Amino acid sequence: MRNWVIITGCSSGIGRALVPLCREAGWGVVVTARRLESLADLPQGEDLRVILLDVTDSASIAGAVAACTDLHLKALVNNAGYGQVGPLELLRPEELRAQFETNVIGLQAVTNAFLPLLRREPGARILQVASMLGRLSIPLAGPYNASKHAVVALAETLRLEVGREVAVVLVEPGAIRTAFRETLVKACGDLPARARGTRYETVITSYLALRQHQAERHALDAGACARKMLRALNAAHPPRRLVVGRDAFWVGKLKLLIPAAWWERLMRRVYRVA
Ligand SMILES: NC(=O)c1ccc[n+]([C@@H]2O[C@H](COP(=O)([O-])OP(=O)(O)OC[C@H]3O[C@@H](n4cnc5c(N)ncnc54)[C@H](OP(=O)(O)O)[C@@H]3O)[C@@H](O)[C@H]2O)c1
Repeated sequence: MRNWVIITGCSSGIGRALVPLCREAGWGVVVTARRLESLADLPQGEDLRVILLDVTDSASIAGAVAACTDLHLKALVNNAGYGQVGPLELLRPEELRAQFETNVIGLQAVTNAFLPLLRREPGARILQVASMLGRLSIPLAGPYNASKHAVVALAETLRLEVGREVAVVLVEPGAIRTAFRETLVKACGDLPARARGTRYETVITSYLALRQHQAERHALDAGACARKMLRALNAAHPPRRLVVGRDAFWVGKLKLLIPAAWWERLMRRVYRVA
């Protein structure tokens, strides 16, 4: 009998890196993306099922559940997400709404839809991909910070409610080298134009350059993150939290240790917010 895992957002990055690792470890993998052509290069096999899944579309979620009812579905990895950045003062309500639709509401909708299938399997587990920005906030990433804090809160609540039947693992990565930063720049849309002539004009330019620079220098590769997640998928007793990367570990500790005023001074300096 093969155990199956369904992973959201497999077109690139962490989700994609997890697919071959799970297959090598003997899992059957339900690989999902909102553009099927992005999955066309995956080697076919009996251990692979490819389905369309946009986490913001309830019909798409229902279709994905229907396509999995014959499987021993033992794990769900809620990985799909993106980063909406921009100073809160310039943020449009629809940008904040869209960020929550994908990262929070989509994640919970997928979770709820798959819970009945997961419950059938002893030892089932859900990996909710949050971020170190679910525990602390950086300037100019308000929508993303808020969405990942919400993921943490929902996962902690879900664990209290269903944790005895289905384990809930919070994955909290620091910087990982993926398509995330390019998507983040795209999600900025016309933000640089909106910021022109405001106090944010230069801040945004240097912020985007800084994120890129940080990603190149310190980020872990997606495979390293996926390997840690695979351990949680295979573990007899899955951990409650999976902090991935030294940055996530140390910055999280620092935030708890230093006074709030020092933390704020540090954040403003690092992100060059006057
Ligand atoms: N990279 C980092 O530094 C980092 C750090 C902490 C946490 N994370 C989290 O890790 C997760 C994976 O991100 P990544 O770094 O691997 O970035 P990525 O390479 O951009 O992958 C994100 C994936 O999510 C998918 N996605 C976005 N919106 C979707 C939707 N509505 N329905 C279905 N799929 C959707 C994307 O699909 P499309 O190709 O169709 O857009 C893509 O497959 C995210 O939740 C992210 O917040 C990343």
